[in-house]
Amino acid sequence: MFGARCMRLVLRRCSSAPCPRHAATPKLLRVREALEVRDPAGQDIKVQGWVRSVRSQKDVLFVHMNDGSSLENLQVVADPGLGPSDLTFGSSVEVQGKLIKSPHKRQNVELAAENIRVVGPCDVLAFPLKYKTHHPLDYLRQFPHVRCRTNSLGALLRLRSEATAAIHSFFKDNGYLHVHTPIITSNDCEGAGEIFQVESANEKRVPGENPHFFDVPAFLTVSGQLHLEVMAGAFSKVYTFGPTFRADDSQSRRHLAEFYMVEAELSFAESLQDIMQAMEDLFKKVTDTVLSSCPRDVELFHKHVAPGQEAKVERMLKNRFIMMSYTEAIEVLKRARQEFIYKPEWGRDLQTEHERYLVQHCGEIPVFVFNYPYDLKPFYMRDNEDGAQHTVAAVDLLVPAVGELCGGSLREDRPDFLQSRLQRLGLEDTYQWYIDLRRFGSTPHGGFGMGFERYLRCILGVENIKDVIPFPRFSHSCVL
Ligand code: 4AD
Ligand code: MG
Repeated sequence: MFGARCMRLVLRRCSSAPCPRHAATPKLLRVREALEVRDPAGQDIKVQGWVRSVRSQKDVLFVHMNDGSSLENLQVVADPGLGPSDLTFGSSVEVQGKLIKSPHKRQNVELAAENIRVVGPCDVLAFPLKYKTHHPLDYLRQFPHVRCRTNSLGALLRLRSEATAAIHSFFKDNGYLHVHTPIITSNDCEGAGEIFQVESANEKRVPGENPHFFDVPAFLTVSGQLHLEVMAGAFSKVYTFGPTFRADDSQSRRHLAEFYMVEAELSFAESLQDIMQAMEDLFKKVTDTVLSSCPRDVELFHKHVAPGQEAKVERMLKNRFIMMSYTEAIEVLKRARQEFIYKPEWGRDLQTEHERYLVQHCGEIPVFVFNYPYDLKPFYMRDNEDGAQHTVAAVDLLVPAVGELCGGSLREDRPDFLQSRLQRLGLEDTYQWYIDLRRFGSTPHGGFGMGFERYLRCILGVENIKDVIPFPRFSHSCVL
């Protein structure tokens, strides 16, 4: 069989009489582009990438190469003599040859090589990835500098890129303006104290002079919300999508010190319904787009990493998300037969175990929990003025396995309410500009933030948040 294959290669090479087409420079194709050619006619092409496998037989050499553009590798077939001695697993190569129909059912095309050049050899013994080995995600986590060359991280990073594009499209198609909110800020939007302070490393501390680079304490942003509120006051519907930082001393599977947050702010939003609708539309539209644009990458997760996940995602997409007030949620939790580590009690925050239970209770359909106790939430949330069980117009979206995916609220747009709340917190001076916004043509408004890595975990079924971001940062770990 391989003899016949080799003959075919040799024959083709011998019969290629010089003609202008052959004299032309071979076209550089990505692996994906080469694989998508339906009727290959022996066109001259060049492909650059990394070797996933090399198998040399008596008459033929097989090389699988990948350049990150697709989950599938391109098969290269060649005379064994054509392979340089340093052509190994992990090396980077440039292969030039003819794209031909493959005799194998599992692939449409293959590249009959005429020249194979090793661009960068790979020290295979020291290389953390091993040939023909399935590397679990937690093993790969140790090697953030090479894990992107595996099938799982390759698929994940393509999906991440696709989801990013889908998020931008969603907002553009729905009339939102994209705003770059600052990374360095002088406010702690959430007031939870989980902030990283920013100072110059070269600071010359002169006694008596202001010690801060910016004259005021400055922090890495925990949320772009307050800046978005400024912009919503001019553009009505705005969003931002960028890195967010929390000095959360947690090694949990759902917390990072640096994560990406999608945040939207809507002026003239009078009810939490508007905010919930925007969250649900975003989730469903982006997920639909990702599932249809990268089916093979999604399949890797849904079939191999998290079997059964496909049906779970389907369920989330097909059903209307459920709505439940915080007060109802506490009642459901109190009635639960399950023992919780943290006893559910009105006035206490929902823990991950509670959030997961509530989603299970709702048949694994995402659930909006709204109207949280006033004392649990940040100063900017709108007071519901509802008496003894005092709540604010806050809403969290809880999803299967992950728990909280989005947090949002109506914002306190009444200057007197806001002023007295900030006064009580001793923050009136810091947030004078924010109070002023309520005096200069304010509108009822609200918005939300969605954790991008939690979103990826939710749709792909990945257990640990550290496996859905290229370079995870968390307490005691900042590798690279
Ligand atoms: O609920 P959070 O804290 O809400 C805000 O920051 C609002 N200011 C957003 C807004 O209304 N514009 O965070 C929003 C989401 C959470 O629901 C969660 O998905 C994610 O951000 N998140 C984290 N993701 C990973 N690691 C962490 N440490 C996270 N903290 C929050
Ligand atoms: Mg929250």
